[in-house]
Amino acid sequence: MDRMYRAQRHIYDLTRKYYLLGRDTLIAELPVKIGETLCEVGCGTARNLALLAKRNPGASFYGVDASTEMLKTATTNMAQAGVGDRVSLAVALAQNFDGGALFGLQRKFDRLLFSYSLSMIDEWEAALEHAFTQVRPGGFIHIVDFGDQAGLPSWFKSLLKGWLDQFHVRFRPEIRLWFEAQQRAGRGRMTYREHMRGYAYLLTFEVSGS
Ligand SMILES: C[S@@+](CC[C@H](N)C(=O)[O-])C[C@H]1O[C@@H](n2cnc3c(N)ncnc32)[C@H](O)[C@@H]1O
Repeated sequence: MDRMYRAQRHIYDLTRKYYLLGRDTLIAELPVKIGETLCEVGCGTARNLALLAKRNPGASFYGVDASTEMLKTATTNMAQAGVGDRVSLAVALAQNFDGGALFGLQRKFDRLLFSYSLSMIDEWEAALEHAFTQVRPGGFIHIVDFGDQAGLPSWFKSLLKGWLDQFHVRFRPEIRLWFEAQQRAGRGRMTYREHMRGYAYLLTFEVSGS
């Protein structure tokens, strides 16, 4: 991961804003409450966390990422955005991070956010299973990521797929099916919608219990 991002991190936010679509919609709609904690898993340069921290001054934000290089840029970005005191960052994997050990938290997160990270994580199922151990009962898992491109021309889908292959990114329509299965198993309630004719999807899973 560090090999890929060592140079990329410097142009990451500038280039990705044109194709990591739906992130700002999700951020604008996220109903973060005062006193809540939110952790972004695979936070990258933490541009989402900076925006969230500015919009929600009464909440605390955390980010974990596999790449030390990305977190170097993230740390600079948080300081420049003036939110360094409310955004804590740590190098860790989606499959086994621990909010208590990393950040000294006494309780589980109210919300977890996966923004264009699950499409890069081959062990996505392990990452999501692990997410259930890190979010409190009654908390939320939010996802924005590439959709199945079903509403877009097939040439566009092939072009995008070719481009994303370079970054080890995969469309993963199976994630929606996985959450549907979790809902049937009584683990919570899913809401799902497509963004821009299936370019991206926005998914929220409210975990059972409170
Ligand atoms: C496409 S970037 C998205 C960054 C950010 N979430 C955003 O929306 O701008 C994906 C990020 O996931 C991280 N990542 C990939 N696999 C990971 C894993 N197994 N655990 C934690 N982070 C991972 C990468 O290092 C990268 O920073």
